[in-house]
Amino acid sequence: MSNKIIRWGILGAARINQQLMPAIIEAEQSELIAIASRRAGAAEQTLASYGTAAQTEVKVMQDMDELINMPGIDAVYIPLSNHEHAEWALKAIESGKHVLCEKPMALKVSDIDTIEQAAKARGVVVMEGFMYRFHPQHIRTREIMASGIIGEVRSVRSCFSYMMQDARLYRIADPIAEGGGAMWDIGCYAIHAARFAFDDALPTAVTAMAKHAENGADISCNGILDFSDGRYAHFDFGFEHARRAEYEIIGTKGGLKCHNVWAKQAETPVISWWTEAGEKQEETLPLANHFKLEIEHFVQCVLNRQSPDLSLENARSNCLIINSVLESIQTGRHIALPGIP
Ligand SMILES: NC(=O)c1ccc[n+]([C@@H]2O[C@H](COP(=O)([O-])OP(=O)(O)OC[C@H]3O[C@@H](n4cnc5c(N)ncnc54)[C@H](OP(=O)(O)O)[C@@H]3O)[C@@H](O)[C@H]2O)c1
Repeated sequence: MSNKIIRWGILGAARINQQLMPAIIEAEQSELIAIASRRAGAAEQTLASYGTAAQTEVKVMQDMDELINMPGIDAVYIPLSNHEHAEWALKAIESGKHVLCEKPMALKVSDIDTIEQAAKARGVVVMEGFMYRFHPQHIRTREIMASGIIGEVRSVRSCFSYMMQDARLYRIADPIAEGGGAMWDIGCYAIHAARFAFDDALPTAVTAMAKHAENGADISCNGILDFSDGRYAHFDFGFEHARRAEYEIIGTKGGLKCHNVWAKQAETPVISWWTEAGEKQEETLPLANHFKLEIEHFVQCVLNRQSPDLSLENARSNCLIINSVLESIQTGRHIALPGIP
């Protein structure tokens, strides 16, 4: 495996490369060797904007097939538009590459099943890029839950919202079935985070309601995941609210809150917790770059042939829940899981 260094290719000159390209370059045992964009000049521009002097030998190409078939590339990072993820993840896997795919890995559960079968057949690591899970603040909240001080988790509330800027309106230009709208963009985070305190379990049922734009794309949504026995997770997300990115976990003996769930490198992570016994604490954690930590985790999984912390089963569950929530919105009914092929 090329002197224990994972050599990356990036598929697409996407905005999120602003975070991931430096992360790939700076991560331990990781090297960027190529980037492809179908738009002339876009890969060069991305590299000039987000690359670093440390990595000047990056090959730029316009043919995405050329990149996934390039010998010497071990892993491919896929930041394409949501509806293109499954197709290109599968192509990269079939050409023997490990794949880190931006969220959501696929719009349909059946596509994740196909990806999982292909990954098994080719013996490659495939992970959905929910980078926030690699931030130490969530490792700390897990620790607090495991210590028992807040008791058994009974209720969760998670949210992700901000005011959509005009320049980003293209994110709601496509219908939901083609990966447009708030659900695939930010709702998938709120749902992913809502499951965190329930060990990423699959709920037994979901219910939700949403506001839609004229073209059918969703703009805001509120919903509930039912984890049975009175354990519920409420999530909300939207493009027409003040910025919030939180989760709150209430147990039988107390509660905890993460105040900035997707904290970037320069943002101070703060979590707070309290107990019925009267304890109360606010903890400030060291700054961390979850994108770099995500890449380093992925690289170690490839080098050591380990399964990633974010499994394909997790990606499948998230996709199944999202589709069930969308069905609940459309039909106005509670939807029992599992149900969507
Ligand atoms: N993990 C995170 O924090 C995070 C944050 C934001 C987004 N995301 C996810 O990352 C993925 C990419 O999001 P993004 O906002 O970075 O996407 P984006 O800038 O819209 O780019 C997506 C793809 O569209 C093409 N594209 C880019 N600009 C274009 C333009 N002006 N005209 C036509 N095509 C263009 C690019 O492919 P070509 O270069 O081949 O044309 C690019 O790979 C999405 O799946 C999103 O859900 C993750």
